[in-house]
Amino acid sequence: MSNVYVMDHPLIQHKIGLIRREETGSRDFRALVSEIATLMCYEATRDLKLEDVKIKTPICETTAKQLEGKKLAIIPILRAGIGMVEGMLVLIPAAKVGHIGLYRDPETLEPVEYYCKLPADCDEREVFVVDPMVATGGSSAAAIDLLKAKGVKKIRFLCIIAAPEGVERMQREHPDVDLYIGALDDHLNDHGYIVPGLGDAGDRIFGTK
Ligand code: PRP
Ligand code: URA
Repeated sequence: MSNVYVMDHPLIQHKIGLIRREETGSRDFRALVSEIATLMCYEATRDLKLEDVKIKTPICETTAKQLEGKKLAIIPILRAGIGMVEGMLVLIPAAKVGHIGLYRDPETLEPVEYYCKLPADCDEREVFVVDPMVATGGSSAAAIDLLKAKGVKKIRFLCIIAAPEGVERMQREHPDVDLYIGALDDHLNDHGYIVPGLGDAGDRIFGTK
């Protein structure tokens, strides 16, 4: 069974409180989503493997640490996942970035794929999939299906707000994927929106409504 980490860091909780407010406009919303992504990235990279490397300081030779392999990738689910990429890159600037385009059909709530461009060597990388929202879990599960079909083996998923329904689906369909969640909300409403949630993340990031 996958690990589910719900972030309890006070800065993350404070900033999530701000993006939930309906009066928060797109400029502040975007900036806060990016800051939350940086803080979540710090937590989600806590157990990356290190290796010893011999270096020379201005004083003497010594053994220092470096990330083992250094092969990371960030894959946002379009559109809203784009809002988390810059914040992740602040801490892991050498990561490659791929994109998976999925939107949720408003009637069926099923994910529809419209774009996929991944790093050529993504099957050799440890991948961080990012999307601010996991509601039914349909989009996140489909994105991971797609990555696994391309041979990706090490996947972590970061989202800012999740519904219990989506977390259950992810655990059922992808028990090997660890989930890093900013806040675990109460339930989904009849339109598949997270309650209390923050509304439509993509529209709020890009100002499209
Ligand atoms: C939102 C969100 C997730 C998805 C979550 O995207 O960013 O990708 O819904 O819902 P689910 O867990 O029920 O699949 P949306 O489909 O609204 O597309 P957008 O990012 O282009 O606005
Ligand atoms: N997608 C969103 O952007 N918000 C929700 O509450 C559910 C799905």
